[in-house]
Amino acid sequence: MKYHIITYGCQMNKADSERIATVLERKGYLPARNIKQASFVVVNMCSVRQSAVDRVYNKIKNLKDKQIIITGCILKQDRTKLKKNKCEIIDFKDLFKIEPKIIYPECFVPIMEGCNNFCAYCVVPYTRGREQYRKEAEIINEATTLIKKGCPKITLLGQNVNSYPNFSTLLTKINNLPGNFKITFLTSHPKDFSAQLIDVMAKSTKIIKHLNLPVQSGDDDILKRMNRPYTVQQYKNLVARIRKKIPDIRLSTDIIVGFPGETKKQFERTVKLFKEIKFNAAYISKYSPRPGTAAFKMKDNVPLEEKKRRTKCLRNLLSS
Ligand code: 5AD
Ligand code: SF4
Repeated sequence: MKYHIITYGCQMNKADSERIATVLERKGYLPARNIKQASFVVVNMCSVRQSAVDRVYNKIKNLKDKQIIITGCILKQDRTKLKKNKCEIIDFKDLFKIEPKIIYPECFVPIMEGCNNFCAYCVVPYTRGREQYRKEAEIINEATTLIKKGCPKITLLGQNVNSYPNFSTLLTKINNLPGNFKITFLTSHPKDFSAQLIDVMAKSTKIIKHLNLPVQSGDDDILKRMNRPYTVQQYKNLVARIRKKIPDIRLSTDIIVGFPGETKKQFERTVKLFKEIKFNAAYISKYSPRPGTAAFKMKDNVPLEEKKRRTKCLRNLLSS
């Protein structure tokens, strides 16, 4: 029996897929060269936005003759609907503890699972549960093995890596492992970004000078309603402190346009922030209501056309 894995969504899902591949191969299944030759397909899904969910439903429509297993971030309502569509759902447990089969050109090392932040729009705390940290020794062992195998770049993963107890110490320890490799990490929450971490990054020759620091909005009131506990000024101060110590830092961010109630004036404050900070890259999402989240109870009142216009407006600023 041959398997094929399709992965949607974030790096965490990619990391999970590498471990799911190990689980399947230990059970005696072999990787199919392509989807056609597979007797079953594992779809590792993402539910962060409805568009990602829709993509999965479209995919399974085209895979009618195959056995389909769905895993990853799945909403309750979709569990029922997917089962009706003859999909089997498997929640792979403790993937942390399993050795990855290297699929991607970078090596993902999850350091934590889940999220405790409950940003009002976000489904992750519901699909992935509360934060669970992997033991430091286990992380260092895995990194050591990967480096010995010749892995050129270690990517430490977590929904909010900065809430890992003593993240700067962990980074320092990995940095000090012998070998010729680079380190990067995803994703950081501005509220937990410590001065110590800036120092560790500034000193290291192995840590890549790139940070994804999601701001989500340039308006204080929207940030408050998103349950993001910082102000635009605090964010700007943090960026200034980072740039002062690491002048060659590449900064990227995540933005949501059209959060419930976002006025044109409030959006203009995000535009202003873009002009001030001059991000090197930004992942701009149109707000998508997620069942079960706090924002789901708010009216999704920014029309799609306006969300598109706001997206375009920010994209243009990036390329200019
Ligand atoms: N709608 C739109 N974008 C979202 N994100 C998370 N939840 C939603 C949602 N409901 C975006 C955020 C986050 C990134 C991973 O996805 O910007 O940082
Ligand atoms: Fe979602 Fe916020 Fe947690 Fe990120 S920090 S996973 S956006 S709840």
